[in-house]
Amino acid sequence: MISEKQIEEKVERLIEELTLEEKFKLMVGFFRFQTNTIPRLGIKTFKVTDGPLGISQHSSMLRKNTKFPAGINLAASWNRELAYKCGEAIGREARAINRLCVLGPGINIDRSPLNGRTFEYYSEDPHLTKEISIPFVKGIQSQRIAACPKHYVANNQETHRHIIDVQVDERTLQEIYLRAFKEIVEEANPWTIMSSYNLVNGEYVHGSYKLLKEILMAKWGFNGFVMTDWWATQDRGVTQPTTEEAIKAGLTLEMPVPILYGEEELLENYKKGKFSEDNINELIRRLLRVYAQVGMFEDEKDLPKGERNTKRHQELARRMAEEGIVLLKNEKQFLPLNTDNIDTIAVLGPNAKRKFGKMLLGGAAAVTPPYEITPHKGLKEKCKGKIKIIKDPSKADFVLLFMGLNHDSHITLLSDKISKDKPEFGKESEEVDRTEFGLPIAQIELIKKTIEINPNVIVILNNANPISMEEWIENVPAVLEVWYPGMEGGRAIANVLFGDVNPSGKIPLTFPKQLKDSPAHKSTKTFPGEDLKVYYEEGIYIGYRYFEKENIEPLFPFGFGLSYTTFGITNAVSDKDKLNSKEDSLKITVDVTNTGERAGSEVIQIYSEAPSKVIDRPLKELVGFEKVFLKKGEKKKVKIQIKATDLAFYDTKEADWNIEQGKHILHIGNSSTNISAKIEIEC
Ligand code: BGC
Repeated sequence: MISEKQIEEKVERLIEELTLEEKFKLMVGFFRFQTNTIPRLGIKTFKVTDGPLGISQHSSMLRKNTKFPAGINLAASWNRELAYKCGEAIGREARAINRLCVLGPGINIDRSPLNGRTFEYYSEDPHLTKEISIPFVKGIQSQRIAACPKHYVANNQETHRHIIDVQVDERTLQEIYLRAFKEIVEEANPWTIMSSYNLVNGEYVHGSYKLLKEILMAKWGFNGFVMTDWWATQDRGVTQPTTEEAIKAGLTLEMPVPILYGEEELLENYKKGKFSEDNINELIRRLLRVYAQVGMFEDEKDLPKGERNTKRHQELARRMAEEGIVLLKNEKQFLPLNTDNIDTIAVLGPNAKRKFGKMLLGGAAAVTPPYEITPHKGLKEKCKGKIKIIKDPSKADFVLLFMGLNHDSHITLLSDKISKDKPEFGKESEEVDRTEFGLPIAQIELIKKTIEINPNVIVILNNANPISMEEWIENVPAVLEVWYPGMEGGRAIANVLFGDVNPSGKIPLTFPKQLKDSPAHKSTKTFPGEDLKVYYEEGIYIGYRYFEKENIEPLFPFGFGLSYTTFGITNAVSDKDKLNSKEDSLKITVDVTNTGERAGSEVIQIYSEAPSKVIDRPLKELVGFEKVFLKKGEKKKVKIQIKATDLAFYDTKEADWNIEQGKHILHIGNSSTNISAKIEIEC
């Protein structure tokens, strides 16, 4: 691999050799997913691809590629190793088709349960988001493919996404919405970042000196380049930054066509002295550095080899799906099903045979795989020669109801035509937010009717956002959350239903009982926004931070998920009782014992409670976790690292992160509400 020194030398040479006009050419997209070339200097096109759930069909010349489970599945697995492997595999698939940049991960924070793109993102919690996205970025870039964390920043709704102006206070912006971006930049060094469509406190992000130059680049040390989201610079009736402002803010690449960075605008502004060639060099230097990092100037045989649609990628997709499935309810150990004492199962519901992998269905993140195992197909394979699959619930031992939401089209009109059951709220897609919190009415009726005929009902849900379950959950003995599990989803679901795999996923967002319990839904000012401004009035209190503060009981708390076995968490000890500086860290060790009858994995979670003396702090905040696999009866010591910086809050007076002095209590458990031990430490 080319050294950093060689990269910098190459970049400087090119900067010398490029004419100003050529530099201008490099600052804009060419066609939808490429950039311009300068053949005389060996500068080739930089092809990018969506991202982040695999290589999309629309940006890979209509190719079919491995469809991995959604971001929300990955977050629900709480498994950093899987995140790395997924990033690495997506990097290999990109390499195999000569794409040099994957537009992902999507790391916006899940603020509202109606957000159309929650499936692409990870969590309501910045700590979990960064812990999953850091290895994901490292995995992609291990293949010398640029990652592109997006959408920087506060792109937390689809309604009016191009023109909504997010009103958010400084502390909230830093602690909740910028946090994962900061950590990714500092720990994973992503080579590119995509700015979001929305405005933040009156400024478009792609023209914000504060958000790009001051925070991202100067404070955090980002040395890659920033690209816009697609057509973000178009005039939609809200004042765009000027060409000069975007340049000075640090925007390198306008995608996919020139608007702010049209050749004439650039030349005219340059001639008027609005910016200098040095300003341009600074932007181009960033771009060329990435071109070198992805190997543009090297012999192809020296670069990592790509690989696409291979068995190991498909197996990874299945494993990710299995580990992300969350068992939400399992009365009297109803699950797992046992092939030996079942003759017939009824498989019903709109998602039993639904294929999710179709071009652009759901938006830019859509991946079309070479095949897709639907739940029905997965069950057919599992039950072959043992159990009959029928449709009549009255004649079945168990009824499996495949319910939930779908991606249909992100083009509303088309979707209304093709969706049979209430498309306007059955759908989770880019460009549109949901309008209702419940399942489509037809599905609720189907659940109720089925229970009357046969009470042995298991509801299996596809959705990323929480949905209300109040109307039916009491009468359903088992509920499985499978999110959007990718091309191998049907097999993963069958493996969990029949106990070949013990579920170990934990929900990465709070499931409220009703929409109005969610802090983003206090009024039309807080969502979707009046006068094109949305007010984040809840401040830092989103998700479990809010539910705990207000003492509102959620339907399922953050971090919750059941298993077919049971675990004991004992003997929690810390290797230090004091953290001495911001750079310090400590290790908590706990004994975790599998006290049940099956092998399984548990996620040990640590939440910190700050003294809250100098500043108002949430009752608890996630600061560490580890997932551990245990055979039946096995006991393991699990070590969890807690960094002092993870206990910090953003001090607006000092414009920096600070750790409160005094006693911090670390709560150790297997969800945000099920706490087994507490340890006090001094800061
Ligand atoms: C989306 C991005 C995506 C881009 C390119 C935009 O509409 O917001 O996430 O990467 O299109 O397809």
